[in-house]
Amino acid sequence: MSRPTRITIFNHKGGVGKTTLTVNIASALAARDKSVLLVDTDPQCNLTSYLLADDIVDDLLDHSEDSSGGTIWTAVKPIFDRVGVGRHIELINVRDLALVPGDIRLSEFEEFLGEAWTDSYKRRLGGLHAVSAISNLVTNLSAERQFDYVFFDTGPNIGPLNRVLLLDSDYFIIPVACDLFSVRALGTLGTTLAKWIIDVRTISSIAPDGAPVLRGTPTFLGYIPQRYRVYGQTMARQPTRYFRQIRRRVYTDVSSVLRKVDKNLAPPSTVDPKIGGVKDFASLTQAAQREGVAIWECSTYSRPEEQELARRVFDEIAKHIVNET
Ligand SMILES: Nc1ncnc2c1ncn2[C@@H]1O[C@H](COP(=O)(O)OP(=O)(O)OP(=O)(O)O)[C@@H](O)[C@H]1O
Ligand SMILES: [Mg+2]
Repeated sequence: MSRPTRITIFNHKGGVGKTTLTVNIASALAARDKSVLLVDTDPQCNLTSYLLADDIVDDLLDHSEDSSGGTIWTAVKPIFDRVGVGRHIELINVRDLALVPGDIRLSEFEEFLGEAWTDSYKRRLGGLHAVSAISNLVTNLSAERQFDYVFFDTGPNIGPLNRVLLLDSDYFIIPVACDLFSVRALGTLGTTLAKWIIDVRTISSIAPDGAPVLRGTPTFLGYIPQRYRVYGQTMARQPTRYFRQIRRRVYTDVSSVLRKVDKNLAPPSTVDPKIGGVKDFASLTQAAQREGVAIWECSTYSRPEEQELARRVFDEIAKHIVNET
């Protein structure tokens, strides 16, 4: 079976629509007959709570310490306990998507990953296996069932957990809010990613033969301005101002920084890598979240014109992803 394309919608800034975009883009890809695996790698478990009913989430979290548990923590716990390799878990099917449920205890694994990273520099196999644990979980799950795409839903930080997820991703997409903080966040994002890529190259070059190492080639697919106000059909004046800065800074702070490491990691300055735009859908977004469905599938707060617009916007994003990956 071929390796599915691994994608992370990443911004270390909180609340910029990572989880919302992940669910809606995955649903749009599924509507295009693509098989998609979602991996909730945020200890906040928002993606899991979005897709599953509260009692199911509670039950999963109550039993995730057991060997028969079903969250991402169940899968990596033997590695954390240093008693073995990752454990098999059953995927959860949610409509036409597959899910690896998240777990609040993943934050403990995150601390462990910090030490494992240091151990990788010392060529210690335990460290290298821990760093590749989630990557291997996805590889094993993809061997059982063919997926076209895998999405990691990450938490809002730059830490050891997001480092291994980004370095395992084939592509990443940056969601941005049209405000000052989003403009500023791009600088940190670009330099941090470039550093991680250089670091993993070093680890790869010194790792013992046959040891697992992350690919370390997360390619910048593009950015998605989101949750901006519109007047009529167009972006309002205030977000437009920030949007111009974002477009410029995406190149100077992200693309050009990555291209210095490897010119294949980001598009050249002649390309504006904007992948659609998702306006503020107001309370429709929360209603869809409560129902556990994509915006256009929401029935409790039906707004047909807005929903048709959302369906088209996300289908365009899905089309772009299919064409570019
Ligand atoms: N296009 C949108 N229109 C209106 N509300 C939105 C939109 N996108 C996201 N939201 C709302 O914004 C909030 C934050 O979104 P979301 O949880 O997807 O962000 P996030 O980046 O995943 O957050 P975190 O960093 O905490 O993981 C949620 O309440 C969500 O419903
Ligand atoms: Mg989130």
